[in-house]
Amino acid sequence: MSELKNDRLIRALLRQPVDVTPVWMMRQAGRYLPEYRATREKAGDFLTLCKTPELACEVTLQPLERFPLDAAILFSDILTVPDAMGLGLYFEEGEGPRFSHPIRDEQAVNALAVPDPEQELGYVMDAVRLIRRELDGRVPLIGFSGSPWTLATYMVEGGTSKDFARIKGMMYDRPELAHQLLGKTADAVTLYLNAQIRAGAQAVMIFDTWGGALSPGCYREFSLAYMARIVRGLERNHNNQTIPVVLFTKNGGQWLETMADAGPDALGLDWTTDLGAARRRVGDRVALRGNMDPAALYASPARIEAEVGRILADYGHGNGHVFNLGHGIHPQIDPDHAAAMIEAVHRLSPPYHA
Ligand code: CP3
Repeated sequence: MSELKNDRLIRALLRQPVDVTPVWMMRQAGRYLPEYRATREKAGDFLTLCKTPELACEVTLQPLERFPLDAAILFSDILTVPDAMGLGLYFEEGEGPRFSHPIRDEQAVNALAVPDPEQELGYVMDAVRLIRRELDGRVPLIGFSGSPWTLATYMVEGGTSKDFARIKGMMYDRPELAHQLLGKTADAVTLYLNAQIRAGAQAVMIFDTWGGALSPGCYREFSLAYMARIVRGLERNHNNQTIPVVLFTKNGGQWLETMADAGPDALGLDWTTDLGAARRRVGDRVALRGNMDPAALYASPARIEAEVGRILADYGHGNGHVFNLGHGIHPQIDPDHAAAMIEAVHRLSPPYHA
């Protein structure tokens, strides 16, 4: 495998010096790009796009052809893991993800199998290998998974939820059953991320989109504990390269210190957390990734540039910052506005690394 020509992302995640602050965007391959919509059209639907390595590779590379991004992120979805566990994932147009066999009782939890990532999720590993070949060392490739808690919300609710009635009912009434489900899911995620690392992922990220819906005690017991277990089980050294691990709990800004205790290299922040204050709280224990409000990209390029400047100043001088949006880019965003953000990060950040 080729050497990295641009290793800013890896260096920043490991809190090593860089020349400029690296930048990538959550959902950087997505519906705001006309070329993505064209490939998705060609695939027929989103899931076929995920399950066809050549097409997944094509859309992974699309944002890199357009913008000088410092990382590629595997095009896939967190819900492919429960799909491989037999839940039957499908997407209802305009309504988001659904499972045809949600997990509602003890019998269903007992029947869950931990998939072999090179078999049931072989299409993901093929995509990782293909993307690495096509990238040819231009920038690192980020692999990812959902957190066990976030995956369990979809697995039990059967889709996206607002109140998490079923999964929280299970958590409060039958904690041992919730733990059994989360434990199996954590095993599946650990195997899955290690397979991605062996296939060529150069950093990995765990998305905990719904951990922030929990009370502090439940967050530690039902979400963070399982992310910590995954972090401990990851093969963080591959071919003599360190594989940085990033944890991201949306709305988890008040728990950064305990998240750092779980042992990741970096934490992702959404835009509701003050970046400078977060840095003072975690000190030199972890790098930070974030945290522009994705809705700021609706503003003019001049206003976007000012916002980028504010965030860079908020983090301040020194190592350990990866610029990103606090959550996924919205489908309505003008790609030129994303370009303005990326350009501003590269143009305005060198003084912070001098
Ligand atoms: O960041 C990237 O570019 C990598 C690709 C990626 C996708 N999903 C592609 C996608 C990643 C990292 C994800 C993670 C994911 N998926 C999360 C965690 C991060 C987050 O967003 O909080 C979650 C909760 C999911 C589950 C999921 N997938 C939902 C709720 C939806 C529907 C919402 C929507 O935006 O329509 C998806 C679909 C999805 N995943 C799309 C993309 C590009 C849109 C599908 C399409 O093309 O219609």
